Amino acid sequence: MNIYDNTAFFAAYAAMDRSKGGLEAAGEWHQLQPLFPDLRGAAVLDLGCGYGWHCRYAARQGAASVLGIDSSQKMLSAAAAMTSDARIRYEHCGLEEFAYPAARYDLVLSNLVLHYIENLDAVYGQVYRTLKPGGCFLFNIEHPCFTAGVGQDWVWEGERPKHWPIDNYFYPGQRQTNFLGQTVLKYHHTLTQILMGLLDCGFRLEVVEEAMPPAQWMHLPGMADEMRRPMMLLVRARKERP
Ligand SMILES: C[S@@+](CC[C@H](N)C(=O)[O-])C[C@H]1O[C@@H](n2cnc3c(N)ncnc32)[C@H](O)[C@@H]1O
Repeated sequence: MNIYDNTAFFAAYAAMDRSKGGLEAAGEWHQLQPLFPDLRGAAVLDLGCGYGWHCRYAARQGAASVLGIDSSQKMLSAAAAMTSDARIRYEHCGLEEFAYPAARYDLVLSNLVLHYIENLDAVYGQVYRTLKPGGCFLFNIEHPCFTAGVGQDWVWEGERPKHWPIDNYFYPGQRQTNFLGQTVLKYHHTLTQILMGLLDCGFRLEVVEEAMPPAQWMHLPGMADEMRRPMMLLVRARKERP
């Protein structure tokens, strides 16, 4: 079962700032938004769309059609309740099972989902197939420095986060994390796997960025610690025209 369908986890996720405030409340948005291509008339696929924030943003930017897929029925129900635009459709489906029609989309987008995927190369291959030539793959994945260690937590010295442990970096695969009070399974992929996997598929790498908190958030509690290790990796890759 997708952890987002667990009642306690779903409630805790709903209480997060990004769940209440949407894109503007997401720490990566100030870096992700400028990476979007021109969406006027575009066909967009959002992998792991959650509440559908990015689907609605794409429609507002002029996309002709937007499909958001997600394997959590609870997340999709929340997305549907916030959506009234007929250009947006949601489908209950895992990234691993989706049919990925050939050369259909101008943009494939995925925000904070790919670290739930064991076989990144298989998804990359399908995304490459489903993009039109010239199309764009834009994603944000938890950073390998963030996913490598055990438990995804600081080493604490009393109340103070002493350091962030990176361990077993070159052993990619499943990690048991504690996220929002639940045991959540994620997958660590090395930086080489994340970037070379795209190049091996035929993508041209256009942008690589590591998300930092917006400068105007730095006074908020805990924000200074977000400068001590990267949490998210933003990537834009393009399927070149023949
Ligand atoms: C952190 S949320 C991000 C949601 C949305 N992309 C956003 O940025 O607001 C992760 C989402 O990935 C979905 N998810 C996790 N594993 C998935 C999978 N294998 N296939 C489809 N969706 C998945 C979850 O249900 C959840 O909605």
